Formats: sequence, structure tokens, C-alpha cells
Amino acid sequence: MKVAVFPGDGIGPEVTREAIRVLEALDLPALTLFEGDVGGIAYKRHGHPLPPETLAMARAADAVLFGAVGDPECDGLERALRPEQAILGLRAALGLFANLRPATTFPGLEGMSALRPEIARSIDLLIVRELNGDVYFGDKAIETLPDGRRRGWDMMSYAEDEVRRIAHVAFRAAQGRKRRLCSVDKANVLETSQLWRDVVIEVASEYPDVALEHMYVDNAAMQLVRDPGRFDVVVTGNLFGDILSDQASMCVGSIGLLASAALGEQQTEFGTFGLYEPIHGSAPDIAGQGKANPMATILSAAMMLRHSFGREAEAARIEAAVAAALADGIRGSDLGGDAGTGAIGDAVLARL
Ligand code: NAD
Ligand code: IPM
Ligand code: MN
Repeated sequence: MKVAVFPGDGIGPEVTREAIRVLEALDLPALTLFEGDVGGIAYKRHGHPLPPETLAMARAADAVLFGAVGDPECDGLERALRPEQAILGLRAALGLFANLRPATTFPGLEGMSALRPEIARSIDLLIVRELNGDVYFGDKAIETLPDGRRRGWDMMSYAEDEVRRIAHVAFRAAQGRKRRLCSVDKANVLETSQLWRDVVIEVASEYPDVALEHMYVDNAAMQLVRDPGRFDVVVTGNLFGDILSDQASMCVGSIGLLASAALGEQQTEFGTFGLYEPIHGSAPDIAGQGKANPMATILSAAMMLRHSFGREAEAARIEAAVAAALADGIRGSDLGGDAGTGAIGDAVLARL
């Protein structure tokens, strides 16, 4: 069970360290971890945010555990060399088109939500975000028009097969949950979204047991704070999914809690190849201070055990240990507490 670990920048190495401690404590004999450089640190060491050696390491692994990338010192670089290209490049090169971003309120954490506790208590949703297409991967440029004005543009598009495959992932996920699927788009304005909606409706005929609804993204953003308990599975495109998942994190308490899995079609001898990462970034504002909450990364490691290694029991053990630490009042700075990164790791380990 080979895991390529890419800690990355900012708080990435800090939170990844704690996830590794938790994985190692499980003492799975077949688990081997090896580390590679991604992001700003990779650019500084090798001249590229996703060096060929790192990509080769990912391909040789059964799963990737990813910290975060992003470095303010690199924001002036040409886009192809910026740290963020590491994660975008891995998702594209490895065909990881299905991003699972669960958001559930942990018992005892209702009071930490940005919403009222009785609203927060109801949240148990899964955002299925398409990860290989949309405006993220279309042509883009800043150009100078003949009259001298600059114009920036980004091409948004989805091909029908791209929509179909993520729709199937979402419908199947809904079948394993409460059988409700909400497809989020902007079909009242965007042709990309109209095709998205048409294809989701076509796919729905294969899943008569799942109740499908469609919602415009502006309304979805509103409903997510008005009545988040109404959502079970939400399927949406790359950009809307990025935004709604950060929003969902504050509905359950903090961005330091939300894990994710990026999956494709590749199977290994143990399960589905995947990349696992917290949904947050490198948090330059708190990097190096030992303040980052590692729970999102620890929970991502649990998702890895579940999806890539078929180790449901160990995944559930990690999730229970995180839940127990939270129930016992262990709070990072993101949750108004003073537990540092290492102390949170210790607290989870003690309850494993
Ligand atoms: P961010 O998620 O890094 O931080 C947003 C806010 O949340 C900050 O105030 C930060 O301190 C806080 N925060 C995030 N994670 C936390 C944690 N685990 N514990 C406590 N607080 C936490 O988003 P940003 O500031 O918009 O972006 C910073 C950099 O990260 C940028 O370069 C961005 O491109 C990059 N980024 C990378 C990824 C990724 O690697 N997948 C994801 C998002 C952003
Ligand atoms: C995320 C991040 C990335 C995204 C960035 C860093 C490219 O925000 O993983 O949510 O937009 O997908
Ligand atoms: Mn994001």
C-alpha cells in the first residue's frame, strides 16, 4: 500500500506531519510512505511546482496524501510556474475528475458553526465536485486589444461525457446515502450549465430511486446557510464546487475540518487510486506558528484508507478519534481554542 506524501507549502507540512503520525500509529504492515516536493517549495528546489520526479512518484503510488500548495512569494510568477499548478496538474494528469467533499457537523460542535446551532445540527451533506473541467482548464489569457485596453478571459466548457461521468458518481453516492441529489448550475445564464442540466436529467433515468432537483448556484449559496439540512448529495462543476465547499466548511464550524478525496477510474490491487487533501490551502497568515488545525488532513487520511485501501474499520477508527477529541473540547485556533497543531495530533492519537 504505497502512499506518495506531498506536504507542499505553508501549513501543508505541519498538518501532513500529524496525519502521518496517525497513519503510522495504526501499524498497518503493508503501508509504505514516501515524500515528494510540490508547490512553491518544489519550484524553489527544482524550478517547477510539479517536477517530473514528483509526478512519477504519484504514478508509482496507490494513493497520494497532499498537504497544500501556495506561496505569496510565487504569486508574481507566470501562471504555469505558480504553486497551484501542482495540484491542478496532478488532478489533470491522474484523471482525478471526482472530488468528494463531505461536510457533517460533529456532535458538540454545533456552537462553533457560523449558523445557529439548531441549523448547524442538521448538516450531513456531500459535495461532489467535478475536478477536471470547467473554466479551470479552458484556454485563458490576458490580451491587449487593438485600442490598447487589456482584456482577460477564461473559456468555460463541459463536454457531455465529462458531465455524464460525474453525474454517475453523484447518483451512486446518493444511493448509498439518503437518495437525494441536488445538481447546482447557472443554467439561466450559461450554456455550459444548460448542457450540464440536460445531461444530468438524461443520467437520472438510470437512477429512478434517487430524487433529483436542480438549483441555481446563487440560490444554492443562500439555501446552504438558510437550511443546509435539506441537502444530501450536491453535484456541481469545478468552480461552483470550490466556492460552495469553503462555504459549507463554515456551516459545520471551520475550514480546518473538511477533508476531500479526488478519484478517477484507475483501480489498484487495493481499491481506487485517489488523491486526498484538506480543502483548505497553505494559510500563509498562520504558517510556521504551529496553529493550524490538522484534523482536515487527518480525516483525509481516513478517506484514503476507505477509498484507496478498502480499510473501512481503520478509517472509521480515525474518524471516531477526531470526533472524540472534538467532543472532549479539543479546539484549534480556527475553533476559538488554543490547542496547537501537535497537541491536536496528540489528542487524536490518544483516542485512536
Ligand atoms: P486558505 O484555505 O489557505 O486560508 C483561508 C483562511 O483559513 C486563512 O485565514 C487561514 O489561516 C485559515 N485556515 C485554513 N486552513 C486552516 C487550518 N487547517 N487551521 C486553521 N486555520 C486555517 O485560503 P487562502 O488564504 O485563500 O489561500 C492561501 C494559499 O493557499 C493560496 O496560495 C491559495 O492558492 C492556496 N490554496 C491551495 C489549496 C490546495 O493546495 N488544494 C487550496 C486552497 C487554497
Ligand atoms: C482547492 C483549491 C484549488 C482549487 C486551488 C489551489 C487551485 O482552492 O483545492 O479547493 O481551486 O481547486
Ligand atoms: Mn478551494
